[in-house]
Amino acid sequence: MKVLLINGSPRWKGNTNRALEEAAAALEAEGVETELVWIGNKEIRGCIACGICGKTGEKRCVFAEDCCNELIAKAAECDGFIVGSPVYYAGMAGLLRALMDRMFYAGGANFRFK
Ligand SMILES: Cc1cc2nc3c(=O)[nH]c(=O)nc-3n(C[C@H](O)[C@H](O)[C@H](O)COP(=O)(O)O)c2cc1C
Repeated sequence: MKVLLINGSPRWKGNTNRALEEAAAALEAEGVETELVWIGNKEIRGCIACGICGKTGEKRCVFAEDCCNELIAKAAECDGFIVGSPVYYAGMAGLLRALMDRMFYAGGANFRFK
């Protein structure tokens, strides 16, 4: 059993990371393997609804310069997911929202119960 934890804050060692570290420690104490990844603070493209991911069936987004495809591939090996975000104006952080749209649209099956 492995759980992927995604830090959706542009700040690497901030509060979101701290909360995710707590969650990871609790899971590890129960014998669950964890991996904590950070989405970074560089530009993340939003989905442009081109539909190419659906046509190729390769579970990849055409925009390959950020962490989207790497996370889709990691998800295939994980059984559970925890996504952490700072609150930005009563919602999730914009970079994370942009990433999740593409991650789930292109790699949706990798994020479902196996
Ligand atoms: C653009 C921006 C918008 C924010 N909006 C809110 C908000 O609506 N409500 C709130 O409680 N905190 C808000 N915050 C504060 C962050 O959610 C808070 O500092 C959070 O713990 C930061 O997490 P991090 O350390 O992982 O980056 C905002 C911060 C920023 C930079």
